[in-house]
Amino acid sequence: MAKQIAILGSTGSIGRNALRVIDALGSGYAIIALSAHSNVELLAEQVRRYKPKFVAVTNPDYVAQLGELVGELDVEILAGPDGLTEIAKLEEVDIVLAAVVGAAGLPAVLAAAKCGKQLAVANKEPLVVAGELLVSEAKKNGGTILPVDSEHSAIFQAMQSGTREEVNKIILTASGGPFRGATVEDIRGVTLEQALAHPVWNMGPKITVDSATMMNKAFEIIEARWLFDMPVDKIEVLIHPESIIHSLVEFVDGSVIAQLGEPDMCLPIQYALTYPQRVAGISKRLRLGQIGTLTFEKPDFETFRALPLAYEVARTGGTAAAVFNAANEMAVEEFLAGGIKFVTILELIEHCLNKHDVKASASLEELLEADAWAREEVRIKSHKGISA
Ligand SMILES: NC(=O)c1ccc[n+]([C@@H]2O[C@H](COP(=O)([O-])OP(=O)(O)OC[C@H]3O[C@@H](n4cnc5c(N)ncnc54)[C@H](OP(=O)(O)O)[C@@H]3O)[C@@H](O)[C@H]2O)c1
Repeated sequence: MAKQIAILGSTGSIGRNALRVIDALGSGYAIIALSAHSNVELLAEQVRRYKPKFVAVTNPDYVAQLGELVGELDVEILAGPDGLTEIAKLEEVDIVLAAVVGAAGLPAVLAAAKCGKQLAVANKEPLVVAGELLVSEAKKNGGTILPVDSEHSAIFQAMQSGTREEVNKIILTASGGPFRGATVEDIRGVTLEQALAHPVWNMGPKITVDSATMMNKAFEIIEARWLFDMPVDKIEVLIHPESIIHSLVEFVDGSVIAQLGEPDMCLPIQYALTYPQRVAGISKRLRLGQIGTLTFEKPDFETFRALPLAYEVARTGGTAAAVFNAANEMAVEEFLAGGIKFVTILELIEHCLNKHDVKASASLEELLEADAWAREEVRIKSHKGISA
């Protein structure tokens, strides 16, 4: 029986790569459900090709258009954010690949965890906002959360060299993004075009901006904290511009185990789908002899303030990470729309964190309230100015 896969966010960078991986895996895997937010032209193409039984269109304005495009096909169209949650819960689904961008994926990821699904998670924001809750729900209901993020996939693979108790620390590698080596002064005049020009990875616009501010790595610290139940003080960041070593684990005896590969998301996507097996696939092969040199640097906590903030947020706990994430999502949206400057992204996030009254051991409702508050705060401040 083929494993039935639901891809949440099949029209995005991860979603499209996942479909390529599944094509190559062959008959052991089948697509049962797909989703998009508004790119219904591409979703319609995917429906014609993969013949899923269900699709979700999370932006209700585009549902009718998809209906017109695939009306003759035998596919059930689910509308709005609830539609996404519905497909994550479907009885027939074995694996949910979470590839939506942002905290918008949280309800569906949580629903999948509560149904005890095998979750392959690229969508890191839900883990940042509600990692504790997601991990505990998956555990309670017999589900698994497998990382797709290349760094966390690397850690997950390296951790298999010992027991959890034998792990001393995690070292997350980072390419450093387009502004590696820049000073606080240098990044003042950064343009949208420069922020979107990532030197190594080709990704969706939001994560590309997050890589430029290093917020992506900041989120990955919090993501690792929950996925591997690791205190943040045992999670380090190391700049590795070539992005060949995807991350490392140091064990108590001093051994450091790393996972290496070309910067290509197909490998971590495939591993999360075929785990615990490894099979041949489409990932590019690593030729270290051609690469020659691998280099490393310490991260610059002064220019990239997202990094020290992540440690602070993780230590604070409660609703702090929900505010951290939501303020960033909203600020990046404003930056992508040309409404604010690059440096204002971090200023807005710091403003929200300073103003927010943290609730410890927050419920889902309190996390969502904090999220909504931070979005509104950023929206107002982006339009009125940070000092208003
Ligand atoms: N790209 C990478 O290499 C990479 C690597 C590691 C981790 N990740 C993580 O994986 C996630 C996806 O990244 P990506 O680069 O693939 O993003 P992306 O290219 O922007 O794709 C995002 C996907 O989510 C859908 N979407 C957008 N807004 C939504 C909403 N409000 N509700 C539901 N669905 C929505 C999009 O639909 P439309 O196409 O219709 O807009 C699209 O299918 C992010 O959390 C990112 O941090 C990405």
